[in-house]
Formats: sequence, C-alpha cells, structure tokens
Amino acid sequence: MQVRPFEPVDLDGAAALLAERHRRHRAAEPLLDPAFEEPVDARREIEELLAGDAAAGRVAHRGGSLVGYLVGISKDRETWGTNVWIESAGHAAADPDVVRALYADAAAVWVESLPANHYVVVPATDDELMAAWFGLDFGQQHVHAVREAPPASFGIVPRAELTIRPARRADLPALAELELVLPRHSQGSPIFSRLPIEPIDEVHAELEADFDDPRFTTLVAEVDGLVVGSAIACSLGESKSNVSLMRPAAAGFLGYAAVLPAARGLGVGRALGEAVLAWGRDAGYPAIATDWRSTNLPADAAWRALGFRPTFRRLHRGIT
Ligand SMILES: CC(C)(COP(=O)(O)OP(=O)(O)OC[C@H]1O[C@@H](n2cnc3c(N)ncnc32)[C@H](O)[C@@H]1OP(=O)(O)O)[C@@H](O)C(=O)NCCC(=O)NCCS
Repeated sequence: MQVRPFEPVDLDGAAALLAERHRRHRAAEPLLDPAFEEPVDARREIEELLAGDAAAGRVAHRGGSLVGYLVGISKDRETWGTNVWIESAGHAAADPDVVRALYADAAAVWVESLPANHYVVVPATDDELMAAWFGLDFGQQHVHAVREAPPASFGIVPRAELTIRPARRADLPALAELELVLPRHSQGSPIFSRLPIEPIDEVHAELEADFDDPRFTTLVAEVDGLVVGSAIACSLGESKSNVSLMRPAAAGFLGYAAVLPAARGLGVGRALGEAVLAWGRDAGYPAIATDWRSTNLPADAAWRALGFRPTFRRLHRGIT
C-alpha cells in the first residue's frame, strides 16, 4: 500500500469510497440523507473540507486503485484546544488496514508540528471502522443520534402534577438557572468538562435578547407552579456540530434540555423530550436528532430511553 498527500485528481475516487460508506451506513440507519450515496454530493463535502483552514489530506493506493483517504482540519482552539478533526466526510477506506496506514502517515506530521487533540467522527453502525479507530487508541467522547418523528397518535402523558408548556418571558430567571445546569453538571465526574461557566446575568441577558427568535421553541416543565426543567427545539439546520453526512435531509433538533438536580429521575426529562418529539412531528419533520457526551450518563440513559439511535460517534485521542 502506498500513502501520499491528497491531490485534486484523487477527488472522484475518494467521493466514490465515501458514497459507498454512506450507502452501507444508510442500510443500517435509513433516516440519514440518501443524497450522499451519490458520489457528486459526497465529493462536494470532501472538497469543502479540503478548502478549510489548515486542511491536510492523505490517500492510500493499492494495486493502482485508490483504497482510502483521510482529511484532517482544524477547529476553534478555545473550545477544542490545539486540534485536528477528521469529520464525518473526512475518511473512508476499503478496510481497517487502510485506516491505520492513513492515520499513521498523517499523524506523523500533525504530532511533529503540534501536540494536539485528535478527533474523528465515525459511522456508529460500522463495527469494522469503529474497531480500526479504537485500535488506534481513540476512545468514544460524543454520540450523535436520530429517531423518527412519533406517529399522529403519540401524546405526552406526564404525571398529573407535571405540566409541559411553552416558555413565557416571566420564566426568564428560571430559564437562566436551567441554562447553567448542563455546564455545571458537565464539570463533574465522569465528564470533567473544562469549559468555563458564564455568569448568570450574562446568560439571562442572552436569553432575553433571543426570547422572540422564531427559530427556537423553548418548553418548560412545571411542578406545583415552579419551573423545574426546560428544553429547546429547533431545526437541525441550527446545529453547528451536526453537519454534512450527519444531517438527515429534514430533521428537528432537541438542542438543549435540563432538569434541576432535585427534580431528576422523576420523569421530567422524559416528558420534555417527548414534548420535543411531538413538536418535531407537528412542525413536519420526519426525524428528530440530538447529541450528547457519552460520559453524560443521565443524558445517555434519557435519550436512549426516548428511542434515539446513535448515527455517528465522535472519538478522541489526546496527544499532549
Ligand atoms: C438528562 C436529564 C435532562 C434527564 O432528566 P430526568 O428528569 O432526570 O430524566 P427522567 O427522570 O425523565 O428519566 C428519563 C429516562 O432516563 C433514565 N435515567 C435518567 N437518569 C438516569 C440515571 N442517572 N441512571 C440511569 N437511568 C437514568 C430513566 O430511567 C428514564 O427512562 P424511562 O423513562 O424509560 O424510565 C437530566 O438528568 C439533566 O438535566 N441532566 C443535566 C443536564 C443534561 O445533561 N442535559 C442534557 C444534555 S445533552
């Protein structure tokens, strides 16, 4: 096998491999966008990656044919540290040996120039590809998932004392408190997020400024007149981390949900999640997507219990 830098002449071969990988992926998860089974659409995604900042691509040839490619890009350092990302359209290969050879060649240069966090977004149902990356010392960090919108007969049946309703301006102080629930929770074990927590008055001001934005629907859960949980629903198009092959053609997005610690484990999260599913159905989306840190154990349990199926896993390897 011969590995060398990605050249424009390799684009069609890479696009054919990616379209084939996506065809296999859709056989396991039909909600994904069929468009990317077309090499012309798959090619556009690879071209976009190659046009990005600090993009670096490799291809592997065997017996005169292209058998794999890999493109690494770089993202915002404040969030990700020094980093290299291999996105959902950033790799496809004929077999695990090709993945290993491509990464070995590319990482030699990346690590020499900069110690960094390496991320790769891998189809969740592709056991071979997943095993190849796990064998390269990557571990699972994040899950992207989807499920179909519920049928017309689907209704939310929360406990009698629980009300789910659209948020009102008077809820803003409670919503600001709930906006801090996820970052606070994420600092704890076993997530250990290092992201800073915004002061609550800044969070309140942002929520107030965005309150009438028609792109977002905020729901609250109320018990005995007190707001104990919130959820935000929108088009998946609003998500910056669910892009390219990760996006079904049309999908709603469970963009945020939080329940106050004292009210957890009582069905509030489920009721909010179900309300977002019903919202997505009523807005005409055939699918609803969400994503979560795999170390966020309550979120992992709650979203799986709601029927979300993993589509892509983000894997991470820190070489620092
Ligand atoms: C995730 C979260 C919204 C869930 O809300 P919740 O009110 O505690 O969840 P529920 O009581 O409705 O439980 C939902 C399902 O998850 C399961 N579950 C919830 N917490 C669990 C836990 N710690 N361990 C195991 N299972 C759990 C429940 O059994 C339930 O399944 P079921 O409905 O089939 O019985 C809540 O834990 C939370 O606010 N976490 C911090 C913020 C956060 O992580 N937000 C999500 C970001 S992606």
